[in-house]
Amino acid sequence: MSEHEASLYERLGGFDGISAITEDIWANHTRNTAIKQRYADSDAEKVKGLVRDMFCAGTGGPENYDGKDMLSAHRGMNISDQEFVAVIDDVLDAMSKNGAGKREQDEVLSILYSMKAEIVHV
Ligand code: HEM
Repeated sequence: MSEHEASLYERLGGFDGISAITEDIWANHTRNTAIKQRYADSDAEKVKGLVRDMFCAGTGGPENYDGKDMLSAHRGMNISDQEFVAVIDDVLDAMSKNGAGKREQDEVLSILYSMKAEIVHV
């Protein structure tokens, strides 16, 4: 029996793998008509860096996320259920493009869905 169960972070290819996924999440968001307007005034490099660090830290990596908590980051935006689903679809598509497996996609889906109450209609 294996003594070390690889973390989700490791299974996604660590920092480099998650950086590549984050590039595709951003590419998807900025061409997704359901949500792209939300990011029209964003500093792409800054937001990508924060999302990457959160993704790394949240999947078991050593990186530190120093951005806002999810409630503070999204409060006042009145984000809809449809927008929430659009973001999740973009994330899973980006994972798929980078070769992530079904098990890994399901784990990320579950993590993201658990944040819904802090993001939608807040
Ligand atoms: C589980 C899903 C989501 C996660 C994990 C997430 C994560 C993040 C993170 C880490 C930030 C940066 C926080 C900071 O500035 O310190 C952020 C900002 C933001 N998020 Fe989300 N988000 C999610 C869903 C959404 C949805 C559904 C929308 C609506 C389309 C959205 C729109 C935004 C916008 C507009 C910003 C600000 C970007 C900027 O500062 O220019 N997010 N989000």
